[in-house]
Amino acid sequence: MIAIAGAGGNLGPTVVRRLAPAGARLALGGRDKAPLEALAAELGVQADTVSVDLLDPNAARAWADGVAERFGHVDALVHLVGGWWPSAAIEEASLEDWGRFHDLLIRTYQHATQAFARHLLASGRGRVVLISPGQAQAPTHTNASYAAAKAAAETWTLALADRFRGTGATANIVVVGAIVTPAMREESPDKDFATFTPAEEIAEAVAYLCSDAAASMNGQRLTLRGAA
Ligand SMILES: NC(=O)c1ccc[n+]([C@@H]2O[C@H](COP(=O)([O-])OP(=O)(O)OC[C@H]3O[C@@H](n4cnc5c(N)ncnc54)[C@H](OP(=O)(O)O)[C@@H]3O)[C@@H](O)[C@H]2O)c1
Repeated sequence: MIAIAGAGGNLGPTVVRRLAPAGARLALGGRDKAPLEALAAELGVQADTVSVDLLDPNAARAWADGVAERFGHVDALVHLVGGWWPSAAIEEASLEDWGRFHDLLIRTYQHATQAFARHLLASGRGRVVLISPGQAQAPTHTNASYAAAKAAAETWTLALADRFRGTGATANIVVVGAIVTPAMREESPDKDFATFTPAEEIAEAVAYLCSDAAASMNGQRLTLRGAA
């Protein structure tokens, strides 16, 4: 089974739509359970939905242990918790922003991966997938805190990949541009999304990284940007 953290956001529905018909059993987590239930109902998908604030390490552990108990095993954690807001130029940027990006983008990921790690190791084919912006490796100065927090999450993933080496588990990163979802295209049919990364392509990459076909890929960045 595949646990998706932050499944109710922009990218989550497309990932769920890609994984569920392929037969994956899904556990969806987010602070607010209502959109997760609505998503599962809309897609006609049987999914385990839970309200979990991943800023709370005990809540993260309770989610991971509960899912493992209900499903018998956990094969993957796909971390989609996100958020972005504009910041000022670097010399004026609020360091309160850094604290907020830190909590949202790296601390939730640390709690989720620590909570799921033993279950992913027990599975013998566990997977962790992080979605990360190009900003993490090539930051612009008005996004310093955002980029630094995502860079920390990338480094955490590479360290996790090192932990997983030789165990059958893997941890990888999908590097993307700004994401365009089917809902965004519907809302703005005239907008040019040429430089964006389609959610459908990201969902395909997630499905691949979670599959046995990617068993040898560990500690890698799969980059879906730069075509436009
Ligand atoms: N959107 C982009 O253009 C873009 C670009 C590059 C990379 N990414 C990355 O791609 C991933 C998916 O992006 P997205 O745009 O789909 O993300 P998003 O919509 O901004 O956030 C996804 C979900 O995270 C959940 N969340 C926030 N804080 C949480 C917490 N403390 N505990 C549990 N859940 C929490 C929120 O649900 P609740 O409010 O219900 O908790 C939200 O629905 C993220 O990791 C993001 O950093 C996105």
